[in-house]
Amino acid sequence: MTDRAPYEAVSWDGGVLRLLDQTLLPGRLEYREIPTLEAAVEAITTMRVRGAPAIGIAAAYALAIVAGDGDPEATQRAAVALAEARPTAVNLRWAVDRVLRRIEDDPAPGAALEAALRIHEEQRVADRRMAEFGASLVDRGSTLLTHCNTGPLATAGGRGTALGVVIEAYRRGRVANVLVGETRPRLQGARLTTWELRQHGVPHSLIADSAAAGLMAQGRVDAVFTGADRIAANGDSANKVGTYALAVLAAHHDIPFHIVAPVSSVDLATPDGAAIPIEQRDPAELLTIDGHALATEGTEALNPAFDVTPGSLITSIVTERGVLRPPFAASIAQALAAPALAGRC
Ligand code: MRU
Repeated sequence: MTDRAPYEAVSWDGGVLRLLDQTLLPGRLEYREIPTLEAAVEAITTMRVRGAPAIGIAAAYALAIVAGDGDPEATQRAAVALAEARPTAVNLRWAVDRVLRRIEDDPAPGAALEAALRIHEEQRVADRRMAEFGASLVDRGSTLLTHCNTGPLATAGGRGTALGVVIEAYRRGRVANVLVGETRPRLQGARLTTWELRQHGVPHSLIADSAAAGLMAQGRVDAVFTGADRIAANGDSANKVGTYALAVLAAHHDIPFHIVAPVSSVDLATPDGAAIPIEQRDPAELLTIDGHALATEGTEALNPAFDVTPGSLITSIVTERGVLRPPFAASIAQALAAPALAGRC
């Protein structure tokens, strides 16, 4: 596998921020130019760009565009708007804060863009290392279950998190099949993960989210790999709604459950999962599909976009700094204290 997928979720090309519009996949592969803060916030909130690292990188470039106008107050306002566009993925705030810190340290024009480009490059390195560390956890002939979309679309780093591991393990001859949960209500598994696995030639079967329990009981799942949007200091991990159910099921059936995420998804300021803000999205995402009503008129719906998997249910957290094992409070603290990757790969 090359370092880059043959498509780019986020790119900075000749001074233009370009996003692959993920709301149109798998039907249409269309890129969209993002010239303004407003266009960036719209793209993040409507999930044209999505996935924790990818929204951080898109926000970093968008902030660099605003910073380029040389108005510090406008830059601060833009930072707040971008950081608040989606609340659960800590990578968004992390990337915005990094660009702001860089501007503070170095007011030269172009410093913000340099920071954004560096964040993007670091993600490419992290993707490569996570794929390599994670693939070594997969036994030959495995059937792997994954949830949501965690491929290059979700990180903009060329490989992805959990899906990068799955694809790398397949390339090493270890994967017989990949079970892809459809991931109601936005269907990132059905729409995006099947598309990415097809692009990479990896065999897969789409399953209804609710089929996971029965398949595990039949011995048809060897390991579960998912991403994370925010990992608390104690290892509790927020990810796409439905992840917690998979972790409970995996524990019940004695199946390894692995999280794959860059250290930019770790939030040491969040002590545990109870403190992670969970994004509540528009109930219309559940009540309708492509504009067609699914439920009885007047039905109310709850639409939390994420849930929290306690660290006690997680076998390992694969990061670009290595495979972290329980007790996570200690292994996370140790990994974050290690020197950053930049310049080492
Ligand atoms: O709502 P989304 O599609 O942005 O949610 C994405 C996920 O939950 C991913 O699993 C997560 O961002 C980590 S993978 C890069």
